[in-house]
Amino acid sequence: MPCVYCVDMDFGKSHKSYFTKQLINWHRTDNDRDLPWKSEKDPYKIWLSEIILQQTRALQGLPYYLNFIKNYPTIKKLAGAKDEDVFRLWQGLGYYNRCRNMLATARYVNSELKGKFPVTYEEILVLKGIGTYTAAAIASFAYGLPYAVVDGNVYRVLARYFGIEVSSDSTEGKKLFQSLAAELLYTDDSAAYNQAIMDLGATICTPKKTICTECPLHKNCIAFKQDMIELLPVRTKKLKVRTRYFNYIVFKKGNKIWIQQRNDKDIWQSLHEPFLIETAIPLTIKGLVKNDIYKSINIPSKPCLIDTETQKLSHQTIISSFFMVDISNATLILPPKGQWVTFQQIEKMAFPKTIVSFLEKKLYF
Ligand code: ADE
Repeated sequence: MPCVYCVDMDFGKSHKSYFTKQLINWHRTDNDRDLPWKSEKDPYKIWLSEIILQQTRALQGLPYYLNFIKNYPTIKKLAGAKDEDVFRLWQGLGYYNRCRNMLATARYVNSELKGKFPVTYEEILVLKGIGTYTAAAIASFAYGLPYAVVDGNVYRVLARYFGIEVSSDSTEGKKLFQSLAAELLYTDDSAAYNQAIMDLGATICTPKKTICTECPLHKNCIAFKQDMIELLPVRTKKLKVRTRYFNYIVFKKGNKIWIQQRNDKDIWQSLHEPFLIETAIPLTIKGLVKNDIYKSINIPSKPCLIDTETQKLSHQTIISSFFMVDISNATLILPPKGQWVTFQQIEKMAFPKTIVSFLEKKLYF
């Protein structure tokens, strides 16, 4: 059924003002979601929280935020940190480009801007790792500037309340949601408004199991009234997920294992892993010993499959097999980018989640 509101794209003035008023009232009286960055005014800490919260739920990001603030209370401290220490603190959050960009931005602000975080939306937007959503969040939370956040939560709340059936991932949809969000913004307190819509999307107007009866907007919500909550927002692009097979050869020599760093432009850049042979299909031991890369290393002893792990990323599923080879009595020529490390050294290095799961089982000692 075509939505009356989408036909003229006007959405009605009173419908809009009700939205903003109700949202702000709810935030002031009923929104009891207590998170440490909500009362924060320091742009560095706000920036840090927003980088951590990109693609991460608040409760998952919380311990990371507290840990970062404790270890690096100022941007200067973060800028002066060793890459390895910062990656180790980030371990488990995923999307490691966020961590890399965060470090680059901290160092840029510290050296090029004399440690002073930029104060305008446009200057914030040019920093590495910051898009329109994060720039609007920082500009409003730190400086009260009138920029509305627009992300998946906001698409969902607006699409449902206004009954918008335009796909949120189309060019037309993006423009529509962006301009509607800007119009709805409560400019007297943009920080409160942005926090309110984020919290509503995270706690009540959730993707599944919405709690409509507790929603301050439900009386005027088109999707609620027309029983369309589960149909909105509309998304047309289907994510293509590819499967990759990582065969890890865990070389063991006495109490050490071979660990190398990932440097290619690929997932998990800068993180560590055992020796890797990637294949298009899963390998058994028989298949592995016939593999050209495997054969080229002249491994003297037989590999033993000791573990398998699966990690789902947004665009890829990584299926990892861990083959252990004890080479205590042999000399192998391994790539120069790796090193032999003890268990104590491993604890200071950063690894992808899948390798952490494997290492935590301690199957190789
Ligand atoms: N997600 C991104 N930013 C957030 C914030 N400030 N509060 C809650 N969730 C968020």
